[in-house]
Amino acid sequence: MMWIMRVSGFFSAALLLIVISPSLQSFPPTEAIRSSHFQGYLRFSPAVNHYHNQNRNNHNAAPAAFSFQQAPFFRNVADCESTSNHVCHPSFIHIAITLDEEYVRGSIAAVHSALQNALCPENIFFHFLASDTNLETLVRSAFPRLNFKVYHFDHNRVRKFISSSVRHALEQPLNYARNYLADMLEPCVRRVIYLDSDLVVVDDVSKLWHTSLGSRTVGAPEYCRANFTKYFTDKFWSNPNLASTFAYRKPCYFNTGVMVMDLGKWRRFGYTRRIENWMEIQKERRIYELGSLPPFLLVFAGHVAPIDHRWNQHGLGGDNVKGSCRDLHPGPVSLLHWSGSGKPWVRLDSNRPCPLDSLWAPYDLYNPSSLAAN
Ligand SMILES: *[C@@H]1O[C@H](CO)[C@@H](O)[C@H](O)[C@H]1NC(C)=O
Repeated sequence: MMWIMRVSGFFSAALLLIVISPSLQSFPPTEAIRSSHFQGYLRFSPAVNHYHNQNRNNHNAAPAAFSFQQAPFFRNVADCESTSNHVCHPSFIHIAITLDEEYVRGSIAAVHSALQNALCPENIFFHFLASDTNLETLVRSAFPRLNFKVYHFDHNRVRKFISSSVRHALEQPLNYARNYLADMLEPCVRRVIYLDSDLVVVDDVSKLWHTSLGSRTVGAPEYCRANFTKYFTDKFWSNPNLASTFAYRKPCYFNTGVMVMDLGKWRRFGYTRRIENWMEIQKERRIYELGSLPPFLLVFAGHVAPIDHRWNQHGLGGDNVKGSCRDLHPGPVSLLHWSGSGKPWVRLDSNRPCPLDSLWAPYDLYNPSSLAAN
């Protein structure tokens, strides 16, 4: 019995250390988990997870104790449309990205990549959905002249819909923020590109922006060879009322980490509420195992405007635990996405990068010396 008490005492002390130590709190966690990809399983120890949930509840958390280098100013080429700094100016390409302490390094790299590869970088307007609006200062320090707005995403908005699941990692409220873009962004913003925080754009994002959605509300690369059945439980498929939602469509998997969204249509047809309805059903009946992806599949799979696969070369995160590295899918590449449980900044910091992580590194603006300075 004695050794059990010693061991549990040790763990309590370790937990206390993690909760109280400000220097530890500023480290990016070694087990990055948030992902819209189906392979992003829980890898957190309960102690670390506990700390993160606490921190995410606390909107007034202390500013992050790390910093970013300032990016160069990226100028428009000569024949770009003239613009102003007003969000409603029609020349803008609108991009939405989430911002939280855990993924801010990835978000900053994503912004950097989009600016660097655009012909008209001054015509991009960024909309950041943040759990903690203090991160605005960090964004401004990296990009002093960026056109952007930070919106506070209130976790209580989704908390009531999130089922208590063993996989808490997939249930981070900010994962659901993409469902609220139509409500949160300025009404004059009628189209937006949503991007996850674990990707880089290596092509001119205006090409993605100008993709036609036809009559559809959401555009994304589709993967029709993936086995769609496995995204939902037997309970879902065996209930004719539920399963019939896919009756007159040909549903295909799509990754919600890169989407072009028609916010005008989204508002008109009330898709936010439709997605919430499925989340309510999930809370009572467990019709799927994953977090924020399945309700999007329920509403949009089979009704998505197919976008070229070059715009989401996904899965590069691979599996951190097995240490596996993924290769690119065949074909051209406009966007690299480290979905999956491994993140390039974690692997680079631990000197165990995958070969393709070297394509993320040039966009990293993280200032490692800032940790020592604190
Ligand atoms: C798809 O997955 C389901 C559930 O895992 C399985 O029963 C079915 O055989 C699979 N279908 C194909 C074509 O692999």
